[in-house]
Amino acid sequence: MIRQCGGDRLVGDEVRALVQAVGESGGNPFLKAEHLDRGEQRFLASADLDDVAGGEEFVGHRLQPDGPECGKDGGMREVLVIGIGSGDPAQLTVQAIEAMGRADVFFVLDKGSATAEMVDLRRSICDRHVDGPYRMVAVADPVRDLSGPSYGDDVRSWHTQRAAVFEQLLIDELADDGCGAFLVWGDPSLYDSTLRVLDQVVAAAGRVAFRVRSVPGISAPQALAAAHGIALHGIGRPVHITTGRRLADDWPEGVAEVVVMLDGRLAFAQLDPAGIDIWWGAYLGMPDEILIAGPLAEVSEEIVAQRAAAKERKGWIFDTYLLRRSAVD
Ligand SMILES: C[S@@+](CC[C@H](N)C(=O)[O-])C[C@H]1O[C@@H](n2cnc3c(N)ncnc32)[C@H](O)[C@@H]1O
Repeated sequence: MIRQCGGDRLVGDEVRALVQAVGESGGNPFLKAEHLDRGEQRFLASADLDDVAGGEEFVGHRLQPDGPECGKDGGMREVLVIGIGSGDPAQLTVQAIEAMGRADVFFVLDKGSATAEMVDLRRSICDRHVDGPYRMVAVADPVRDLSGPSYGDDVRSWHTQRAAVFEQLLIDELADDGCGAFLVWGDPSLYDSTLRVLDQVVAAAGRVAFRVRSVPGISAPQALAAAHGIALHGIGRPVHITTGRRLADDWPEGVAEVVVMLDGRLAFAQLDPAGIDIWWGAYLGMPDEILIAGPLAEVSEEIVAQRAAAKERKGWIFDTYLLRRSAVD
């Protein structure tokens, strides 16, 4: 058994070597870890709790992501980042349901009353798919302040605040061998910072060690394509995914199809609509789903009007769209 004396719990070959080395001198090793650089640490190990500082020194990686020691049986905290689909609870994959079954606690970032519906959806997904009682912990998401001169710096600073919140959650809510889950809207790989922020917590090598597993979900572009019954790109062609903020400067040469997410500024309405078709969807997979498609010149105004009315009615909106330029070969 590995005993801890401050610092992180270790996994992988380093531990095996360490246990062997210290074990040969008798007793269970007490460990002390000291952060050196990203992912690398200096370990001191001793059979004597009172003399860890005078123990043997090792340098190794703090985490081995796929090490056999990870997970509940290996006695290390595990964090599951589970994609839950874009709003339709039926989009949950079997893999996601199985992963949810392993979680001791579900973490929810509360972004205020406007998105209470999304918290409710997570609750109903847990009610439906988790056997027996479950624990859900909601914490206030740090407010995103994008008023600074640099968008990138503002987002990075927001991530740093989130990293502190995440770390505290893992310390407060997870046992040493506990398993916690973030239920991420859509898929964790697309416009979601959970993995990046957890990575930041790992890189900081702070007060808690854990491993992360990502479980894919149906993302908004997939839900959009399914709702309209289309493929996102022509035969053998690329599709570019971007945000409303970047669309105007970011339609690559030679690319016909662009998927736009996170568009609070109606970027499609700023384009010259000639030769562009749009497939637009709001609240995809949800009871309020709205779909509009057609030549941009003909449907742009209708989308703007419906979008504004829906946002007014519900207090929030999620919409995604595909633009296809016909002139590109
Ligand atoms: C913070 S991003 C999260 C994306 C998510 N991780 C995914 O894989 O779809 C939120 C954006 O995703 C898109 N989105 C998510 N769910 C949607 C839905 N049900 N209908 C339309 N768009 C959606 C919207 O563009 C929204 O602004």
